[in-house]
Parts: sequence; structure tokens; C-alpha cells
Amino acid sequence: MKIIALINQKGGVAKTTTAINLSAGMADKGYKVLIVDTDPQASATFALGIIEDDRGTLVDVYSAKKVKDVKLPIYTYSEKIDVIPANLTLSVTCLNLMSRVGSDNVLKTALASVADVYDFIIIDCPPSINKLTINALTAATDLIIPVETEAMSINGLREMEEYIEQVKCNTNELLNLLGILITKYDKRKSSTQQIQEYLISNYQGVVLKSVIRDNVDVADSVIYKKPVLEYKPQSNGAQDYLSLTNEILTKLGYEQK
Ligand SMILES: Nc1ncnc2c1ncn2[C@@H]1O[C@H](COP(=O)(O)OP(=O)(O)OP(=O)(O)O)[C@@H](O)[C@H]1O
Ligand SMILES: [Mg+2]
Repeated sequence: MKIIALINQKGGVAKTTTAINLSAGMADKGYKVLIVDTDPQASATFALGIIEDDRGTLVDVYSAKKVKDVKLPIYTYSEKIDVIPANLTLSVTCLNLMSRVGSDNVLKTALASVADVYDFIIIDCPPSINKLTINALTAATDLIIPVETEAMSINGLREMEEYIEQVKCNTNELLNLLGILITKYDKRKSSTQQIQEYLISNYQGVVLKSVIRDNVDVADSVIYKKPVLEYKPQSNGAQDYLSLTNEILTKLGYEQK
């Protein structure tokens, strides 16, 4: 079982879109996936049409006195995809975590109870560096950093690297960077080529070969509360996410079913 976190402190780089569509790609290959929404904006929860009920949300997991005893709030999206949803209160929960003993390990401890149930757990992170992201990176075995090909996107990448090193030194020695993923790729934009070249030459071997093209169907799929792989399987977006899924499965040594 692998736990993959989508992380970048920059907003709007397609963390959530990638969490959902990579999960859909893995489900398409027959793997069982759990999506964990750790963002108070609850975009993944919303994009999959999950409505909170008395099972609760990730807030209840973080608020529990003894996390080992918590029944996880798991909702079913489809046969192969389950979801632990977020809600806005998660931002208050995040502040409360600051004063809690062992607060970096809450998510890791919670997810240990379902490790046998899933092939992959995919964690969608908020666009910030805080206790929620530390928990995600402490729980994760692997991470992907989505970036847009815009000048502003590469600012902050070095800080991300330092942050990941800090996590490795302190809470998760074995955390593995699967790669930097170029998203919303539009070759008509003049900056695109330059930024892509910059990334490939400065992060050798780290930039994933799969690129996610800018594609209106990807954005529209959210309206229909589906991954683009279900909404428009023939679209560029769906094809790109399938090729990403294949690349990630190969990198992790999983069978291409
Ligand atoms: N390949 C794509 N083509 C077109 N639009 C896209 C693509 N990927 C993502 N988007 C759109 O870009 C916006 C931001 O994407 P998304 O919400 O996944 O980013 P994010 O990094 O999770 O944002 P945040 O930091 O706020 O959590 C959304 O409106 C989404 O639909
Ligand atoms: Mg998001």
C-alpha cells in the first residue's frame, strides 16, 4: 500500500484535480483507492459530490482524544473510490493541533487502521505549510508536487524542497519524492516552453514525463462532480491523467493491470 500526497504551497496548481484524477486512473486499473481531503476549502469533497452526514469528517479524526479508537469517516464515491471528506472547520482544527502532543502523527496513526483495505491512499493538501500538511507528509510514503508553467510557479519550489528535507529529518525519513508534475500545460503560451526547460534542467530526473495539458473538460468535470476520466474519457485531460497513472504505477513497481 502506498500513500501519495499532492503538495505545493502555491494555490491553484491542480493539486485537487490531480488527487481526484490520479485516483480515478488507479481505480480504472482495478486498484482500490481512498482519497483523504485535508484542505479546509474541501475542494476534493465538493468535486466528488460528497455530502457530510453523521459519519463526520476529517475534523473528527483530528479532534479525537485517542485517534487509534476513532472510526474513520469513510464515504463511498464509487466501487473503487472511497473518500474521507473535509470541511471548513478543519482550519480551526489545524490551529488547535499546534498545542497538541504528537500532533504531527495524527493522520498517520488514523490511516494505519485501513492500510489493509486500500492499494493507494491519495492525500489532497491545502495550499499552505501548516500542521495539516506536516500530517500529510508524515503519513505519506510518496509525494507529487504539481506545478503550472508560469513564472510565479517556480518561486517557492526551493522552499518546498527544504520543507520536504525538514520532514524527512524529523518525522518521515523514508518519504519519497515521486516527481514534479507539470499541469495546465499550454504550449501556445510563451512562458510554457521556458519554464518547462528550466524545470527539466534544474530538477533533473525529478520532473515527471507525463504532462497534464490545459483542457476545458478537466475544469468542467467539477460541475458534474466526476473525475474527467468519467466525465469525458476521450478528452486530452483524461488521456493525460491515464498516462500519469501509468507512469506512477511503473515508478512504484506496480503492475499495469
Ligand atoms: N488541466 C487542466 N486544464 C484546465 N483547468 C484545470 C486543469 N487542472 C486544473 N484546472 C482548474 O484549475 C483550477 C485549480 O485547480 P485545483 O483546484 O485542482 O488546484 P489546487 O492546487 O488544488 O488549488 P488550491 O491550492 O486552491 O487547493 C480549478 O478551477 C481546476 O478546475
Ligand atoms: Mg486544492
